[in-house]
Amino acid sequence: MSTKQSAKRSLNGKVLLVCGGAGFIGSNFIHHIFEKYPKVRIINFDKLTYSGNTDNVRDFVKDARYTFVRGDIADQKKVTAVFKKYQPDYVINFAAETHVDRSIHVGSLEFINTNIVGVFNLLEAVKVGGTVQSFVQVSTDEVYGSLALDSEDKFSEHTAFAPNVPYAATKAGGDMLCRAYHNTWGVPVVVTHCSNNYGPRQYPEKLIPFFVLRMLEGKTLPLYGDGNHVRDWVYVLDHCKALELCLLNGKPGTVYNIGADNEMNNREIADRILKYFGKGKDMIEFVAERPGHDRRYAIDASLIMKDFGWKPEYLFDQAFADTVKWYTQNRKWIERVRRKTGVFNPHIDLWEGHKNKK
Ligand code: NAD
Ligand code: TYD
Repeated sequence: MSTKQSAKRSLNGKVLLVCGGAGFIGSNFIHHIFEKYPKVRIINFDKLTYSGNTDNVRDFVKDARYTFVRGDIADQKKVTAVFKKYQPDYVINFAAETHVDRSIHVGSLEFINTNIVGVFNLLEAVKVGGTVQSFVQVSTDEVYGSLALDSEDKFSEHTAFAPNVPYAATKAGGDMLCRAYHNTWGVPVVVTHCSNNYGPRQYPEKLIPFFVLRMLEGKTLPLYGDGNHVRDWVYVLDHCKALELCLLNGKPGTVYNIGADNEMNNREIADRILKYFGKGKDMIEFVAERPGHDRRYAIDASLIMKDFGWKPEYLFDQAFADTVKWYTQNRKWIERVRRKTGVFNPHIDLWEGHKNKK
């Protein structure tokens, strides 16, 4: 690792409040931080929604450095109490409603509560508490909307927000509040926009784990529309390392885009999964287009590379194969998620129900 990529400050001896640390990226972040900073204290504040899973952080249950607090960031009293009790030095927010399909087909109110009201509560608590040196709001490239397939454009930190689905609109709302709280009150917040992550412990409603589970069940892979939609895939640990740098080195009020320059369309992802399982293209089913479906995401990550010397370290071929393998080898994790939540992707279940009736 280059010296430039090292964090300027250390989390040893500090209290880190992680909101949403029982989810996919948050739990990978907690693993990364405990490994790197053996003397950090982590408070994991999580509501345990359908995607929150205590199995993701079970390694730390008996660890004196780790405290789990069940609670909702949209509950201002609870947020205030947590800040008062633990007096965090650093805060990072992964807590969010995160699935585009649910924001369309299940409802948007929870997205507004968590992704906007919840972020407001955290900003207020940071502002009033006065102990926090740095707060990172983890956001998404989806706030920028969609790029054309035939263009070379990428999202930079200066691209205007143009969200197309309720999930993205609520994340943009939270990001706007961060900007305002920094400019108005000097709240030390850094906002990050990363593209699609892949890796272990992702709730299996998202493309890669969902397709792997369907293969394990002998089911077809449902591609929305023509399947040519492009995402810029980042391995989750590369994202976590970028977030660590933003938390420890980031100048308050700065925005960083994070991406791996790894554009791939959904057909290519499906093909790779089919190849892994030795299956043919006849296992792909093209289904109705997702409303508001963004065509292409691509990230210009030159600012975080320049400022912190960050760059993605994981090679897609290997990290993708390791990710697929992780789901095939962690059947217990899958079965416990299934028992707890029942349906992974309600939208596809509905489609399958209709199909099977015909
Ligand atoms: P996830 O759905 O796996 O986890 C979200 C976690 O937040 C869960 O543990 C859940 O219980 C918790 N949570 C939800 N609402 C809460 C509330 N009101 N109060 C407290 N906890 C609550 O999500 P993820 O994929 O790990 O995403 C984490 C963050 O990263 C999100 O903000 C998301 O927008 C952003 N992001 C995700 C990706 C991706 O590809 N997954 C890419 C870029 C950005
Ligand atoms: P998803 O994992 O839901 O992430 P996001 O919508 O936040 O990018 O979807 C990734 C891509 O895969 C997106 O273009 C939608 C597509 N997709 C399918 O074609 N079929 C599916 O069953 C799912 C879940 C996603």
